[in-house]
Order: sequence, then structure tokens, then C-alpha cells
Amino acid sequence: MREHMLTAIAAASGLDALEACRVEALGKQGTITALLKTLGKMTPDERLVQGPIIQGLREAVANGIAQRKATLERAALDARLASETLDMTLPADAAPAGTIHPVSQVMDELAEIFADLGFAVATGPEIETDWHNFSALNIPETHPARAMHDTFYIQQGIDAKAAGTADEKTTFSLLRTHTSPVQIRTMLSQKPPIRIIAPGRTYRSDSDATHTPMFHQVEGLVIDKGITLGHLKWTLETFVKAFFERDDIVLRMRPSYFPFTEPSVEIDVGYTLVKGKRVVGGAEPDGWLEILGSGMVHRKVIEACGLDPDEWQGFAFGCGIDRLAMLKYGMDDLRPFFDGDIRWLKHYGFSS
Ligand code: PHE
Repeated sequence: MREHMLTAIAAASGLDALEACRVEALGKQGTITALLKTLGKMTPDERLVQGPIIQGLREAVANGIAQRKATLERAALDARLASETLDMTLPADAAPAGTIHPVSQVMDELAEIFADLGFAVATGPEIETDWHNFSALNIPETHPARAMHDTFYIQQGIDAKAAGTADEKTTFSLLRTHTSPVQIRTMLSQKPPIRIIAPGRTYRSDSDATHTPMFHQVEGLVIDKGITLGHLKWTLETFVKAFFERDDIVLRMRPSYFPFTEPSVEIDVGYTLVKGKRVVGGAEPDGWLEILGSGMVHRKVIEACGLDPDEWQGFAFGCGIDRLAMLKYGMDDLRPFFDGDIRWLKHYGFSS
């Protein structure tokens, strides 16, 4: 019987067949269960002989079933693993990804280009004092340039002035109208030689297709000994060629006026018409686009920062970042830059 049962168990082709074997031997009506019941009616002597035999049989069958069960289960798992395929090379469902805003992209590009030229990145506050934004830059209170800057004033500053408690160097009274106050802050906090760019937000009360009340500028400042207009020209040429990624770019310098530079130079970049669109570059330009203001730092500005203008000279420039982005990436309206329209960002944004 033992052999018969163990053979049947070992031959069980599946878990159902094995369960049938178990019921037949060990179930309530099972053969071994019936044998175990006979033990109670035996004499002690008989039981002493039959007990171990029947128990041994029960154990052997139970072990056989457990072993066969494990084998069948393993086989079932192997079969499932073989039939179910999981393709690890399939792309995962794309999570909605953000993009880099063109302004951030251009700021990063500027930082990289100027880092190669030895410029560090400097920053300053967007809420500024009168002194840093104007006076130290040789724009006195009565200067018409103040009116031209369409300044946003801060009520606290206005109140302090009215109350006579304003301090020109510490009372924050306006939103900076340009990044030039970072020139002042840098000269006050660092010893020359200085080579920095300062990208950031600027504010003017102005709004149309090419002006928004908040916009971005990048300031450049070099202070060292023996700096000339030639250094400025070379730096700007190198920058513009690297930024627009072409060598056939012609720059035009035009005399201009800024209170904080002398001489002052406006820089135009040559464009060529490609299918009616203005594209920066071309050895023989079809026209010019103004891209930045610059000049040699005015003696009065160097003096205002506690430096001796006979010892230290330098150049500075200021450039609209949004405009640079528009020219490089072909946008024709400035306003959507700041609308946060996700379709525009998808179209013009940069994937990270
Ligand atoms: N701050 C000037 C502007 O906003 C630009 C500029 C910066 C000009 C530095 C000369 C030197 O128009």
C-alpha cells in the first residue's frame, strides 16, 4: 500500500491530482485515517507493533505530498515566468515634464560664455535705494534721466522722504530700473580687479509689444588698470559671436550718452533678411539692431565707490536679456514671455 500511495503521489501531474491523493489517504474517509482508527480497538501488544507502522506510513505519505507539492508549485512558477514577458526596454509612461524658460536658458548661456572670459556672476536687490540706482551712477535728483526711467517708487521710501527720515544709501525706495546698481554694489564690496556680469530682473512702468513692466537685463563690469574701449569692443564681439553661435557677425559702435559712462557707446548688431525675417549675422548686413548700451565707467562713478579713477578704469555694458532671447530664438512678441501660457512654454521652452 505504501509503495502504491507514494508512486501515485510522485506521479500526480498537477496540484488537483495531488489533492485527490491526499484526500484518498489522509482525508476524513482516507485509507490511512481508517487505519489510524483501528489502533483504538487493538490490544496493547498489537498496538505496540502496529502503531509505529501506521504512523510511519502516515508520515511518509504526508512528506511525499509536501515534496510533490513544492515541486509542482515551482514548476508552475517557472512556467508562468517563461510565458509572461516583461520588456524592460519599453519606455515608461512619460510624466509631465517642465521646460526651461527661454529667459533662464539665456541667463545660463550668458553665465557660461562670460565664465570662459573670466567673469563671475554678481547679484543685487531688485528693490533698491535712490542712491544705488541713480545718484552713485551720476544721475542726480534733478537729472532728466530719472524721469526717462519710468521708475516704480515704493510707498515706504516716499513716506520716509516726506518724514525726513530717509537715508539715501539705506532707504529702499524703488524697483531698480536697470542692473547698473549692481556695478555700484560690486565696486563697494570687492577690491579690483573686477570682472562680473549681473543678470536679473528690472522694472519700468512701460508696456507694449516690446516692453513689459518687468524685464531682464544683464550688466557687465570690468575694473582694472589700463582698461580701454578696445577691451570693451573685443569682449562684446567675443560674447555676441559665442551667443549667436556664428563668426560672421558685424558689430557697429555708435556714440551715445549714459550719465554713468564716458564715452558711451551703443552697440548694434548686423542682421540679414532670411525669408523676410531678421536673422542676426552675415558679413554684409541688410540692417542693424540695437542690442546694448555700454561705455567706459565714468570717473564720478568710480569715485562714488571709493576708488581712485586715476588708478582704476573700466568698462560697463547693459543688455536686455529678453531681447537677446527673442533675437536668438525667433520670437516676435515680448509679452508671452511672462504670461505663463504652457503652450508657449512647450513651443519655446528648453527640455532639461
Ligand atoms: N543701464 C543702461 C540701461 O538700462 C545700460 C548701460 C549699462 C549702459 C552699462 C552703459 C553701461 O539702458
